[in-house]
Formats: sequence, C-alpha cells, structure tokens
Amino acid sequence: MRTRVSSLTSLFALLIGMLMVLTATAPGAAAAPRAAPRAVDCSRVKCIALTYDDGPASSSTARLLDTLKANGVKATFFMVGSQVARNPKTARRVAAEGHEIGNHTYSHKDLRRLTASKIRSEVARGATAIRNATGVEPTLVRPPYGSFNATVRANVNAPMILWSVDTRDWADRNASVVASRVIARARPGAIVLMHDIHPTTAAAAPRIIAALARQGYVFVTVSELLAGRALANGKAYSQR
Ligand code: NI
Repeated sequence: MRTRVSSLTSLFALLIGMLMVLTATAPGAAAAPRAAPRAVDCSRVKCIALTYDDGPASSSTARLLDTLKANGVKATFFMVGSQVARNPKTARRVAAEGHEIGNHTYSHKDLRRLTASKIRSEVARGATAIRNATGVEPTLVRPPYGSFNATVRANVNAPMILWSVDTRDWADRNASVVASRVIARARPGAIVLMHDIHPTTAAAAPRIIAALARQGYVFVTVSELLAGRALANGKAYSQR
C-alpha cells in the first residue's frame, strides 16, 4: 500500500511536471514580438519595403491604397500626427488593410532644432494621434527630413527608420520619373522613400509593383524587412 501511494504520487508529480513544461513552451507564453511578421524570410527572399511619408491625405492615399490592395502589397506609412487628426478615416483604412504605421512626429519639424523636451513631445503627440485614430501603437519613428543628432537619438525612444532609395518624389511630381527611379535603384533589402500626399506618387505605384514583382521582389513592411535584427532605440536603420 505504501509503495502504491508513493508510485501514484510520483505519477502525479511527473504529470504536473510535463504540464509545466508544455505551458512554458506554449507560443502564448513567449514575449510579444514588435509586429506580427508573415511567413516571409527576408534573409532568403528578395524583399523590399515601400514606405510612404507625410500623410495620410484623403484622395492620394486612398488611390494608393486601392492599388496596394488590388496587388496584395503591404507597405509602411510614416504618418504625421496633424494629418492623422485631419484624416482619421484614411488612417483607419491604412491600419485595417494590414499596412504598417510608423510615427513621423506630430508636426514635421526638424528635430535637430528642438530641445529634448520638445523632441519628446513631437514624438509622443504623433504616437497619440495615430493611436487615437487607428488603435495602433507605432513602434518605429522616421525623423522628418531624416534629420537627427545626439539629442534626437537620446530622446526619440524608438528605432529610427531612414531609407536607402530616395525617390525625390516631392521635387519631381511625375509618376513616370518616380517609377523609373524606384525600379532602377531597387535592391534586395532596400527601404524606398516616397510620399503618399502626392497624386503623382500614387499614380506611380502600379508600374513600380508590376516591374519589381516581375523581378521576383516580395513587398514587405519595414518590421518584416528588419525581422530578426535587434533594433535599438535611437539607432538609425536605412535598409535590411
Ligand atoms: Ni516627411
């Protein structure tokens, strides 16, 4: 009897032990990732991240979203908080259609010219506007003009995302010129800078997507592109 009790006790202990191991290794128990990456491994696949800044704007952003949706393409939108406050419905649509939203500050000031507390407030107000409109908490910051110094680095409190392909689409409001630049300068792992506030940039998207898809590129968000890299707050990243 004594041995039987003790073997039953051992069996229970073993079962509880197994249960604990299973619980500890369950996916839900792991730390939450920055974003939910799809099954794209950009260390093996030809990935590229299209990024759109300064919006959302009602009509050009909507036209761009239509093109992205029709082609099953995911992009990243670095939104300006004051624009989000003006166009909350478009911001919500960007989030609902599975694109990544990054923080491009509240009022697009050159952060190098601001004090530490003003930098923190520009970033925090940008994030609040995005959160209020979309429910999304942005984890990435793109400093306006790609401009930063040591004070900016110390106060943005997020990884800073720059770019490796500058389309200068704000200077050349010409869809054909913008598309040709992206296609000519595309590289695996690139981050492409564009602005969804320009109708010409929205008009360039169908040609960009068709040409790069033909070359085997997969369109990913910035978080997907940089997945697997340890991103540090205040550090700048311009490609994979
Ligand atoms: Ni900008």
